[in-house]
Amino acid sequence: MSDWRVAVVGATGAVGRNMIRTLEERSFPLADLRLLASARTAGSKVSTRWGDVLVEDLADADPAGIDIALFSAGGDRSRAYAPVYVTAGAVVIDNSSAFRQMPDVPLVVAGVNDHAIAGHRGIVANPNCTTMALMMGVAPLHRAAGLVKLVATSYQSVSGAGQRGMDELVRQNESLAKDLEALAAGGWTDPGGDLFPRPIGWNVIPHAGNLDDSGYTDEEWKLVNETRKILEAAAILVEPTCVRVPVMVGHAVAASMHFERPLAVEEALQLLERTAGVEVWTERAPTPLDCAGRDEVLVGRVRPTLGETGGINLWAVGDNLRKGAALNAVQIAELLS
Ligand SMILES: NC(=O)c1ccc[n+]([C@@H]2O[C@H](COP(=O)([O-])OP(=O)(O)OC[C@H]3O[C@@H](n4cnc5c(N)ncnc54)[C@H](OP(=O)(O)O)[C@@H]3O)[C@@H](O)[C@H]2O)c1
Repeated sequence: MSDWRVAVVGATGAVGRNMIRTLEERSFPLADLRLLASARTAGSKVSTRWGDVLVEDLADADPAGIDIALFSAGGDRSRAYAPVYVTAGAVVIDNSSAFRQMPDVPLVVAGVNDHAIAGHRGIVANPNCTTMALMMGVAPLHRAAGLVKLVATSYQSVSGAGQRGMDELVRQNESLAKDLEALAAGGWTDPGGDLFPRPIGWNVIPHAGNLDDSGYTDEEWKLVNETRKILEAAAILVEPTCVRVPVMVGHAVAASMHFERPLAVEEALQLLERTAGVEVWTERAPTPLDCAGRDEVLVGRVRPTLGETGGINLWAVGDNLRKGAALNAVQIAELLS
């Protein structure tokens, strides 16, 4: 593997910071590291194992000489700048949803559908963080038995909405905790907030993402469409519900699956235990606190379906900033190199 000139776009954000950490931890063969963000943080320096790196303003940075650009600065920035970086010679690995459904853009969960990268034309998309964790647990079973129907309910942490999501949870938790009696008996004071549609402190919001006329959110549509694209199975029936929970890091999904042929729990466990990047927990159920800061997706509560037999119910939880975003992006970069 030769050394690569890498840029992290959105380097000061929740995902970007994890990208830098992941490049460091995996000793990615770097010839040069460039960090880009908005005018707000341009001019600051980030300490890395390759030295202190100046943060450049994406708006006027020169993309020449970059081999791989890891984008995580929001969809608008990806739409505006990713094509410019590709024209300048970079391969863009994009964390936003801007290109995920484009036919000539591979949507890759490293370890699940690596082969799809071969068809890229300059941009490779990183899947949505909830779909990513779910696919790690679903894909091995799908390959063995042919997934027909997936009912998935997500429990998504606030860091899925970036640094501002984490800040809002902390602030609302503190504000609402000033009157614990009101949390139990009613009469709480709205803590205010501009990110989530309802208070997330001490609460659960039954629709993560933006609702559309269908009654589903964009996060739910991502679960449907990205599952089908990654598994290359457009006919899979997906019933999604995406819920926002007052957790800092870690997206969990409760999944109920039916297949072309009945799948026994013993076989499902064997398949999952053989899957790199998955850790099966049988003694106790994994929680978001267990997965925070970890690369593996933790799978537990693997059990047979009750109503319609032959299916599998399971619980998967993964760090949305690592496998759900930064780690997978770096793994894609490793596959390219
Ligand atoms: N959080 C997750 O779990 C997750 C998972 C998968 C994918 N993603 C995607 O990754 C992207 C970033 O998410 P995040 O959670 O890291 O958000 P974040 O914490 O809010 O960070 C946003 C980053 O984008 C930069 N940025 C914002 N506006 C910019 C502009 N006009 N020009 C250049 N840079 C700009 C910010 O720079 P400043 O610091 O200078 O403002 C910051 O570095 C989003 O597309 C998100 O959908 C997030």
